[in-house]
Parts: sequence; structure tokens; C-alpha cells
Amino acid sequence: MQKIIIAIDGFSACGKSTTAKEAAKALGYRYIDSGAMYRAVTHYFLEHHIALTNPKEVAKALNDIKITFHVNANGVSETYLNGLNVEKKIRKMRISENVSPVSAIKEVRVAMVEQQRKLGKEGGIVMDGRDIGTVVFPDADLKVFLTADMFVRAARRQQELLEKGELVELDAILANLKKRDEIDSTRAESPVRRADEAIEIDTTNITIEEQVDELVRLAFSRMLVA
Ligand code: CDP
Repeated sequence: MQKIIIAIDGFSACGKSTTAKEAAKALGYRYIDSGAMYRAVTHYFLEHHIALTNPKEVAKALNDIKITFHVNANGVSETYLNGLNVEKKIRKMRISENVSPVSAIKEVRVAMVEQQRKLGKEGGIVMDGRDIGTVVFPDADLKVFLTADMFVRAARRQQELLEKGELVELDAILANLKKRDEIDSTRAESPVRRADEAIEIDTTNITIEEQVDELVRLAFSRMLVA
């Protein structure tokens, strides 16, 4: 059967990564978390005190950044920045608070999109993000756009952070999600937008299992016609 490209877009904490990861496992596909790449760039920029308004500094930093993904012993894909595992660090609130202005920079997007296209060119991939179906893979075989109620999103994110050992108040998470939604959808470069042909799934009242089943079902139907 044809190895297709599956693009999953939507705002933070709508269930994109969990759904994409599980569906990729079920299909025997590779999962790429494009948000992790923007988070890794943000981590580097913070560590190296890169001034976002200085194009020379930004260009040099981007030149010095290499992001890769490696599957760990538990079968989970983890993010590496210049050979170092940064998976835990990039999920912290501090990165969430700084990532949207970084990912709004044109040069950052150009560099990441180039890498994302390379990673996906063979097909057999599930990639999630904000602009995968609109910019990175406009010809993706299957495009899905996930949505969910804001309070449900915040509660899910709070639980995720707690499981990773970080206790953050719901109000702080709500404020962060709202701010990122605003920056991500109004920026000049590749704002978040549902591709016309994307299938919208509201995940507010459905389980992860139901989301994954729906995605796998859609993927098989597309593989038959690809
Ligand atoms: O995990 P969460 O849903 O909170 O976000 P993420 O997918 O890790 O993405 C973090 C940030 O990266 C987003 O808020 C966007 O600013 C940016 N991003 C982007 O601009 N384009 C993408 N394809 C993926 C993420």
C-alpha cells in the first residue's frame, strides 16, 4: 500500500501530538513533532541570549542548530539539539512562554520548514503542527485540523505538565494558551489556518482512543486512493 503523508494541525493542547504519535504507531509510520523543533530553537535562543530583533544573530544561531529525533528504548521519539537530548527541557512552561515570538520569525520558519520537508519526503509520516497542511506539505494525502474547548485544553495541558513534574496553575496555562493562539494565528508568516480540504475534528468530548481510531480509519481510506 502507498506510504502517505498525514498532516495534523491545530492549536496547543487539542490532542495533536498524542493522536499523531499513536496513529503513527498503529500505521507503522514515522511521527514528527514540528512544534518540538520550534521549542528546541527557543531553548537554544534562550541559552545563548539571542536577540530576536537582530537578524545577524538569528541567522548565525540557526546555522549552528541541528535538530534530530531519536526513538528511545520505550519506542518514544525524543528531540535532540546538537546531539543533546532536550526532550524534557523543551516541554517546560518557560519554553511555552517564549516559543511563539520565536516561531513567528521568518528565518526561523524557513529553516524549520526545509528540515520538515526533508524528513517527510519519503512519505510514511505523520507530522503535527500549525502549518503542516497549509505550508509544509500542501499536497499531503490526509489533512486533519483538531479543535477543542479552551478549558478542556488547559486542563489537559495542566495534567501533562504535572506528569512531567511541573505544577502550574490553571490560570497561568489558560493565559499562555490564549496568548499563543493569538500570536500563532495573527503572525505574518504562516499563521495557523485550517486548510480548505482539512477534516476538522473537535476533541472536546471524545477519548484519545476514538481520535486515534478516526485518524487511522481516515488514513486507510486515503491509502487506497493514493
Ligand atoms: O505542545 P503544544 O501544542 O503546546 O505546542 P507545540 O506543538 O509544541 O508548538 C509550540 C509552538 O511552536 C506553537 O505555539 C507555535 O508558536 C510554534 N509552532 C509553529 O509555529 N509551527 C508549527 N508547525 C509547530 C509549532
